[in-house]
Amino acid sequence: AAEVSDNDTSPEKLLAPVLSAFWDEDRSWTLDVYRRHDGYEGLRKALAMQPDDLIAYVKDSGLRGRGGAGFPTGMKWQFIPQGDGKPHYLVVNADESEPGTCKDIPLLFANPHSLIEGIVIACYAIRSEHAFIYLRGEVVPVLRRLHEAVREAYAAGYLGTNILGSGLNLELTVHAGAGAYICGEETALLDSLEGRRGQPRLRPPFPAVAGLYACPTVVNNVESIASVPAIVNRGKEWFRSMGSEKSPGFTLYSLSGHVARPGQYEGPLGLTLRQLLDMSGGMRPGHRLKFWTPGGSSTPLLTDEHLDVPLDYEGVGAAGSMLGTKALQCFDETTCVVRAVTRWTEFYAHESCGKCTPCREGTYWLVQLMRDIEAGKGSMADLDKINDIADNVNGKSFCALGDGAAQPIFSSLKYFRDEYEQHITGKGCPFDPARSTAWA
Ligand code: NAI
Ligand code: SF4
Repeated sequence: AAEVSDNDTSPEKLLAPVLSAFWDEDRSWTLDVYRRHDGYEGLRKALAMQPDDLIAYVKDSGLRGRGGAGFPTGMKWQFIPQGDGKPHYLVVNADESEPGTCKDIPLLFANPHSLIEGIVIACYAIRSEHAFIYLRGEVVPVLRRLHEAVREAYAAGYLGTNILGSGLNLELTVHAGAGAYICGEETALLDSLEGRRGQPRLRPPFPAVAGLYACPTVVNNVESIASVPAIVNRGKEWFRSMGSEKSPGFTLYSLSGHVARPGQYEGPLGLTLRQLLDMSGGMRPGHRLKFWTPGGSSTPLLTDEHLDVPLDYEGVGAAGSMLGTKALQCFDETTCVVRAVTRWTEFYAHESCGKCTPCREGTYWLVQLMRDIEAGKGSMADLDKINDIADNVNGKSFCALGDGAAQPIFSSLKYFRDEYEQHITGKGCPFDPARSTAWA
C-alpha cells in the first residue's frame, strides 16, 4: 500500500475547515479551483493502493456515515462481496430532505468535485464500474452545477475509461428525484432509481447484498463520500486526531432557526451547541434558547439544559437523543412548542408513503389530535392518547420515518408537558391566541 500520512497535526490545522475550506472563493465549484486545493490528489494516492487495503484504510480512519445513522463507512464497503460475478454499484444519497438539514446541498453547490473524487475512490475500492448520484429533485441549480462538474471530470480523465491510466473504468449518472422525502430512505431511493414508486423495501437483505437491480450496492451520504479524498490525501491519523475515538473527524453542522447567523459550520465532531452558537453570533439579540433539535426533527428535541452536550454519537446518545444529520434547529422563548410539533407532525403525515398501517394511520391521527390541542380544543386525555399513538408508531413501523415522527411527540411531552396543558386549560395557544383558532 502507498504511504499516506500528514504530520501537521497542529491545532490550527485541525480546526481549519476541510469540506468548506474554499466555498467563498470565486467559482469554487470548478475543476480549476478544486485542483488548486489538492483536488484529485487523494485519488492518485488511492489508485496506488490495493482496493482491499483502501477499504481497510477508510475503516481504520473511523469515518462514520454522515447521513444520520453513523454506520462505519469502511465496514459498509467491506460488506460488498468480491468475486461474485455481479456488477457492484455505488449510489450516493443526495436526497437531503430532513427538516433543518442543509449541508449536502450547499456542499454540492460549492464544491461538487469533492464528491466526484470520493465517488471514484469508493468505486475503485468496491470494484464498481457504475455509480449514481440521486439528487433531491427540487434543487435544479445544484443539478445543473453537478452535471457541469461531471462533464469536467469526464473531460479531464477522472471519469470514463482507464482513469489516470489505472485501468479503472467508471460511469457516473446523475439522477434527480421527484421530491418525496421517503426517497431519502435508502431502499425507497433504489426503487425510485429503478423507475418504480419509491417505497421502502424489507431489510435484510441490506443493499450491500441485494441493492440496485438486486446487485451488491453501497449507498452512502454525500458528506461521507466527499470526506474520503481528504482522509486518503492527508492520512487516517490526521482524521482521527479530530473528534473523539468513536466519532472521529470533521463534519458539517447546519444551524437554523432563531440564531443570529444561520448557515453551515464546519468543525470536529463533538462540538457543543454552545460552541456553535459562539461561532454563529448566538441566539438573535434579546432572546434565549428554549429548545433545539440535534439532528433534524427525527431526533428527540433537547433544551437549554443540553447546551454543553458533545455533538457526537456518544454525547447526544447519553442525553437521550440522537446525532442524526447534525441539523441544529434552534427555537427561542417566543416559539410555541405545540405549534412546532404540530407542523413537524403534519410533515410526517404528508410524507408517509402509506405502505404500513402504524405510520400511515398513526401520523394522520396524530395530526388531528395535535391540531385540536394547538387550537385549544383538546383534553387532558388527548395527551395520553398522542403518547400512546406515538408509542404504537415508534419501532412498529416499516421504516425509520415512523420512528422519526414519534420523536418530537415524546420529547416535547417529556420537557414541555406544562405547555400542552396550558393550551388545554386556557383553551388556546398562550403564545398566539389569534392564530390558534386557525383550525377551529
Ligand atoms: P440504519 O441504521 O438502519 O442503516 C444505516 C446504514 O447501514 C444503511 O446504509 C444500512 O444499509 C447499513 N446497514 C445497517 N446494518 C447493516 C447490516 N447488518 N449489513 C449491511 N448493511 C447494514 O439507518 P437508516 O434507516 O438507513 O437511516 C436512518 C437515519 O437516517 C436516521 O438516523 C436519520 O437521522 C437519517 N435521516 C436522514 C435524512 C437526511 O435528509 N439526510 C432524512 C431522514 C432520516
Ligand atoms: Fe411508509 Fe411510513 Fe411505513 Fe415508512 S413507516 S414504510 S414511510 S408508511
